[in-house]
Amino acid sequence: MSRDDVAAVVAELTLAEKVGLVHGTVDAEGTATGFVSGVERVGIPPIRLTDGPLGVRTDEPATAFPSSPALAATFDPDLAERFGRALGREATARGQDVLLGPGTNLIRVPHCGRNFEYFSEDPIHAGAFAAAVTEGIQSAGVVATPKHYAANNQETGRAEVSAEAAEPVLRELYLPAFRDAVEAGAGSVMSSYNRVNGTYASEHERLLTDVLKGEWGFDGYVVSDWFGTESVVDSATAGLDLQMPGITVPELLESMGIPPESLGGIGGGPDGTESEGDSPQGLFDAAEDSPFAGGMPDPTSGGRYATDLGPAVERGDVPESRLDDMVTRILRSLDAVGHLDGETSDDGEASGDEKAGALDTPEHRDLAATVATRGSVLLENDGVLPLADEADVAVVGPNVDEALLGGGGSSEVTPFVRTTPREGIEARAAGAVTVARGLPRVEGISMFDAMGGAGGPATEDADAPDDGADAGPGESVEVEDAVAAAAAADVAVVFVRDRATEAADRDSLRLPGRQDELVAAVADAADETVVVANASGPIETPWRDAVDAVLAAWYPGQAHGEAAAAVLYGDADPGGRLPVTFAPEDAYPTADERRFPGVDGEASYDEGLLVGYRHFDATDAEPTYPFGHGRSYAEFRYDAVEAVGPSTVEATVSNGGDRPGREVVQAYVEAPDAADIPDTADTSGTPGDRPRPPRELAGFAAVALDPGESATVEIDLDDRAFGRYDESAGWTVDSGAYVVEVGRSSRDFRGRVSVER
Ligand code: NOJ
Repeated sequence: MSRDDVAAVVAELTLAEKVGLVHGTVDAEGTATGFVSGVERVGIPPIRLTDGPLGVRTDEPATAFPSSPALAATFDPDLAERFGRALGREATARGQDVLLGPGTNLIRVPHCGRNFEYFSEDPIHAGAFAAAVTEGIQSAGVVATPKHYAANNQETGRAEVSAEAAEPVLRELYLPAFRDAVEAGAGSVMSSYNRVNGTYASEHERLLTDVLKGEWGFDGYVVSDWFGTESVVDSATAGLDLQMPGITVPELLESMGIPPESLGGIGGGPDGTESEGDSPQGLFDAAEDSPFAGGMPDPTSGGRYATDLGPAVERGDVPESRLDDMVTRILRSLDAVGHLDGETSDDGEASGDEKAGALDTPEHRDLAATVATRGSVLLENDGVLPLADEADVAVVGPNVDEALLGGGGSSEVTPFVRTTPREGIEARAAGAVTVARGLPRVEGISMFDAMGGAGGPATEDADAPDDGADAGPGESVEVEDAVAAAAAADVAVVFVRDRATEAADRDSLRLPGRQDELVAAVADAADETVVVANASGPIETPWRDAVDAVLAAWYPGQAHGEAAAAVLYGDADPGGRLPVTFAPEDAYPTADERRFPGVDGEASYDEGLLVGYRHFDATDAEPTYPFGHGRSYAEFRYDAVEAVGPSTVEATVSNGGDRPGREVVQAYVEAPDAADIPDTADTSGTPGDRPRPPRELAGFAAVALDPGESATVEIDLDDRAFGRYDESAGWTVDSGAYVVEVGRSSRDFRGRVSVER
């Protein structure tokens, strides 16, 4: 359909039909996360929206892909595009038209409960992945929805907290990845729950209308987060186009087949209005000491487009032209993926056609495993890895019988297949394998548990471990027994994990329970100890000096066991590099409670631009493992680094080892005045005085090299890395000589060149 055709359809619609297209309603089939009725009279089919960033969440299984930091750790946007396309094809196969992802927020707070849905602490890196995944989803004929716009960097108080951030800080750190996703063709953007400088994101005219739609030319639609609107007139006039879920909590529960009375804490009367005695949080009774307090929106506030928007248009409070614009944007985005041409999602299996659905194909299984292996970051290795095939291995860890699929919340996916760490190693080892878990299972955490299970994956997850089950018959969960098994083996491999969920932040970067103690005890007894850390984001590693190798393997998804075995035994090089700095928790700028979780409902972003490695480079704080770090089984040498133009550098890299590997060449730019950076981050000045980070990632390129092979890679430097956002002049590039440092991480440079701007 052409733009004119969309306009002609909109012109034919009645006021009620138009209002019906800008809010969600009950999905009679109950498969979608969000559902918009179409208008049959004029041939507009219903629209189905589904979570989420790590796999398709309907009431049936789908491929459970690794978490977003694993994907970002590959530093391979082409792989991310394939990942996006696979997500899109799975969504189509499940009859869904819109995917609610990728998670595009910057990792500002290491404790953030949703870091496993986000890519990176660096805006250029996050943007490259948000764009690639978006492109993939859209290319499969599904609308992508980068979320949560904007500055949704914590879950504590996410429904209310105000991110207090100066304009240059928003522009340079928190908005660029969204802009990249928009430029990559995202048909939709999801507004966040939180406020930005005092105004709710869902009614932030400057962010929604001026910046997103105006400056960036976004012609798709803005969808609210679920129950994430605070007003009808203000949000509609500010630029919010589609209200979700658009229905009351009782209606939502009914559509999910859950009797409302089964949920003790549900607030709101039958019509969704607040009634006396209800929990102010509405969705469940989040007591003040609950980890979810302030993490859930109030579904009874803010009014409903379904009932209130039509009258607001009739009164003239919302111009009808604005309603037309809302409808036009929604139809245009759906039309762009063929939804209005009768090419709606089908329920079929792969047919080879890019627009056809595909579910759980061999290609998707491989992709899930490839991302998990390539995203594994080898933090330390004294030579114990790769393991010898015939080594006798003790497999230790409370959760070795569980594939770690992801964190809790709206991104939860139930896969068709999965391998546990125990299964992965047992299948691959040629030596003896003994399993000694050492501790009772660490249970994951999910906001859905606090909701009486409502909203979680509807499929009965038959393979999921039985909560409460500590060990199989005859199996010990005693630390001593794990220690004994470790002492008797050639090598102990200890799997540890954190736990994270939407709607709450981690309370510590330490591993939950006694896992640190377990690692230390095993390391003491074993000849060699390898730790595989499955975590949502950075963790503290107090035992690192006592062990022989450490792998950061994130949440690996359904391929957990097979990917771990492939990396441990060297069938695949652990190709990942850290997308986020690992450091002691008090070394991050957000250790100050004014910054996180904030005081009196405000989180001060007065660390300014000094987030992630920018902070560690500008201050005396030392990272444990810096951004970009990751070892390899290959041995890379940098033979030459050259500038070949104002925006391009070249690096010649060779592999002098005896194993193949994939090097990620990283280029960081130092601004001409970066030398003036004060020792400590003095962010008290006006925004214009805010210190520049000493260096910023400008680009990266990866190259796979066999032993003895050498190659020259070219890195295009992103213009933004040379620019800064000036409050009055906008994006500005200061002229002068910029130093470009090229190397293996943000702390390991192998060459430097100067480029003039
Ligand atoms: C709330 C989450 O913040 C968002 O990411 C998700 O897409 C919606 N719920 C729908 O499940």
